Amino acid sequence: MALEFIADELARLKQSNLFREFRRIEGPQSAVLQTSDGEVLNLCSNNYLGLAGRPELADAASVALREFGSGAGASRLVTGNMSLHEELERRIAEFEGTEAALVFPTGYMANLGAITSLIGKDDIVFGDRLNHASLIDGCRLSGATFRAYRHLDLVSLEDSLKRASNFRRRMIVTDSLFSMDGDVADMNGLVELAERYAAITLVDEAHATGVVGDSGRGVCEAFHVEDRVDVRVGTLSKAVGCLGGFVVGSRDLIDLLRNSARTFIFTTGIPPAICASAIAAFDIIQSEPQWRHRLAENARYFRQCLSRAIGMDAGGTGRGEEAGIVTPIIPIIIGEAEEALRVAGELLKAGILIPAIRPPTVPNGTSRLRISVMATHTKDQLSDAAASIEKVC
Ligand SMILES: Cc1ncc(COP(=O)(O)O)c(C=O)c1O
Repeated sequence: MALEFIADELARLKQSNLFREFRRIEGPQSAVLQTSDGEVLNLCSNNYLGLAGRPELADAASVALREFGSGAGASRLVTGNMSLHEELERRIAEFEGTEAALVFPTGYMANLGAITSLIGKDDIVFGDRLNHASLIDGCRLSGATFRAYRHLDLVSLEDSLKRASNFRRRMIVTDSLFSMDGDVADMNGLVELAERYAAITLVDEAHATGVVGDSGRGVCEAFHVEDRVDVRVGTLSKAVGCLGGFVVGSRDLIDLLRNSARTFIFTTGIPPAICASAIAAFDIIQSEPQWRHRLAENARYFRQCLSRAIGMDAGGTGRGEEAGIVTPIIPIIIGEAEEALRVAGELLKAGILIPAIRPPTVPNGTSRLRISVMATHTKDQLSDAAASIEKVC
């Protein structure tokens, strides 16, 4: 009786084309996937460099599995802190050029833990309206006053900052590369504002780690502002090809998070085999920059194909171009969820997997195909996909 509302809720989701279902993938993640709908070209993965399917990562994990077992068994602060966790954190800090790093079970938890450790009810936090859900949830959970500013609009941000001097702390949180729009925050402008109004900056590089910047450290690297950003968050789950999230910054910051981030303290450490895979992934990111270059080349090429095929200005790079950033995320905004589902369904019939992204992941009326290019796509695959998109759109 008490759960009768669930059937109503499900019916409502179905009626508004917002019901979600799984698609089963057989075999490893790669540019071509074996799915329950047959073989498809994968144009929607965050496995940007193809590392999730690389044998080096699987080999590192299997050696670690035999040596360390399958699980950490407890919170890192109890008996779950294994040598591989520390090795991974040293590796991340070295890669990011920071004093220290802390690994969380997911990027989502890294954002929640970092934000709620640094601000509370006496503080105010400013977030881009299109920030990822984990940043929004972290802001809400912190108990701080929350002000959303218009997407990428630093004038709107400054307006709010001007009126916030009576709060104990001010904090600005933003995605660096926006996951559903493929555009990039103006990190120079943002850091200048933060300095002018004495605000803490937290930048989520989830989609930029391994992808953007000369060394693959992200958008802050491309804008040369790494040393001016207080807290940088990354994930091991996208270009790094594994699972987990991390925060990098000063030794004091990391010591504080280890002692106060509830999403770190009250959860089990990630499995040691995942740590080993992630270390192998950072080795590849550093020693094989050609994948990052190929990703940028593919992203540029696919934008050209789309612009020829559907006349679309698939720019959407925000301030990225100024900093020489070509992002692998290309949104084709369709509008209503029903139409986005239709287009995605037609593409699937043509062997191309680009699921419709619908509310609440994106704002109402902006359902879209969110394309993400991989370094391992061939030019032929990309030009064929653009031709199919032309037929369907
Ligand atoms: C911008 C952004 N931040 C954080 C996350 C969460 O990362 P994870 O999948 O590691 O939890 C995601 C994606 O899921 C994301 O797109």
